[in-house]
Amino acid sequence: MVSLTTPSVESDSTAFFEQLPECHRPEPVAGPVHGEAHRQRRQALARAVAARSNGRPAVILAFSGKEILRNRDNPYAFRFNSDFFYLTGFPEPDAWLVIRVDAHGAMTDRLYCLPRDPEREIWDGVRVGPEKAAARYFFDESFSVSEIDKDLPELLIDQPMLVAPWAESETVESRLTGWLRQCRAKARAGKKAPSELLSLGDLVAQQRLRKDEAEIQTMRQAAAMSAKAHCLAMQATQPGLAEHAIEAVLLNAFRGQGAESVAYGSIVASGPHSCILHHRAGHRILREGEMLLIDAGCELHGYASDITRSFPVSGRFSPEQRAVYDIVLAAQEASKAATKPGAAFTAPHEAAVAVLCKGLIELGLLPSKTVEEAIETESYKTYYMHRTGHWLGMDVHDVGDYSEPLAPGMVLTLEPGLYLRPSPELPEAFWNIGIRIEDDALVTEQGCELITRGVPVDPQAIEDLMAGRA
Ligand code: GLY
Ligand code: MN
Ligand code: MN
Repeated sequence: MVSLTTPSVESDSTAFFEQLPECHRPEPVAGPVHGEAHRQRRQALARAVAARSNGRPAVILAFSGKEILRNRDNPYAFRFNSDFFYLTGFPEPDAWLVIRVDAHGAMTDRLYCLPRDPEREIWDGVRVGPEKAAARYFFDESFSVSEIDKDLPELLIDQPMLVAPWAESETVESRLTGWLRQCRAKARAGKKAPSELLSLGDLVAQQRLRKDEAEIQTMRQAAAMSAKAHCLAMQATQPGLAEHAIEAVLLNAFRGQGAESVAYGSIVASGPHSCILHHRAGHRILREGEMLLIDAGCELHGYASDITRSFPVSGRFSPEQRAVYDIVLAAQEASKAATKPGAAFTAPHEAAVAVLCKGLIELGLLPSKTVEEAIETESYKTYYMHRTGHWLGMDVHDVGDYSEPLAPGMVLTLEPGLYLRPSPELPEAFWNIGIRIEDDALVTEQGCELITRGVPVDPQAIEDLMAGRA
């Protein structure tokens, strides 16, 4: 076995931040963790498969994905398949993980990856290559992907169970079909193809739902980076700027701090756009007196962060904006209090809805007379039409069973909102107030911790930050 030291790369983005007067020096970014943590995940998966296979051997397959062309010969930035990366930490396209599991759940694993190619590497960068991949990423063996069509049919012969990413991509599907056909062609020689097929995604989702220490560390870093980007965006906001200019501040901060990407398209929604749930930053000019809603988060080493803040373009809330904001903030506090081990995933949503209904009734904005009636008739859905959260992890809307009770190590978002579109039922002063407050909650032994609170949520603190007082 190779050494278990975790390789890490440090980047120093100090120079970038020294140009930005209001920003603090960032923490150095730890490199992606790969090695022992990923091997342990593969071992845990092998044990879970053995528990399902009744003492019969199995093969597990995962695929990293292919580069996809954007136009002509110009590819989209490659983003690995989340399940593959969770199990391997290996970042290149065209790589396959193959795990053989014996009757007792012990595994041997191998990686098939792109071979070294001096000609291609001049254009695309250095590849790890099969000669180094096993030692560097803690596999038992590694081979060139050019060997896989020859090896896989042999590896699958007489293995009763195959765990693979079924129905996820046509590329994977056609390769799997080809390999299985070759196995079946050997039936007359007394050989058998796998007859029981399990979904890799379903099994890995159970593992990914509870984050391990390495994942939590990365998610905390991603959360801190996104919080800093939101602070900079708040400070940059003023009437006369366009939504895309605020998006540029966010993107500059994400990449400047070392995040690889956005976790999803940034939502920068001014005035009437604040009532469109997923409005992507456009060309609209921000105006005095309007709200700005920013829902944006970076992806770091494959892990998402997801933050929303809503604030007045001018830096001071109007009485109506403040009244609605206070209701949403109280709803988020209630959802936080409901986020604790043993609670149902729906508990934070139910807590938030009750507070939103109470606030809307007190403002006279709902036809219902009581909270119970508003919930029963769903009258609140005119102003609050989405759920209060989702699992968060490698994917912004992460995998995981929503019927699982909350447990330490799970991460979910808490994101209540109110969206007051123009309507004859509403006093005009409330028109186009769209407010969502979203933080990322790590479930702990005691309750939960909001890991995105590096950006303020208190309305006075937001006004102070925008006025340069913080
Ligand atoms: N950013 C998408 C969401 O909050 O679900
Ligand atoms: Mn979200
Ligand atoms: Mn969001």
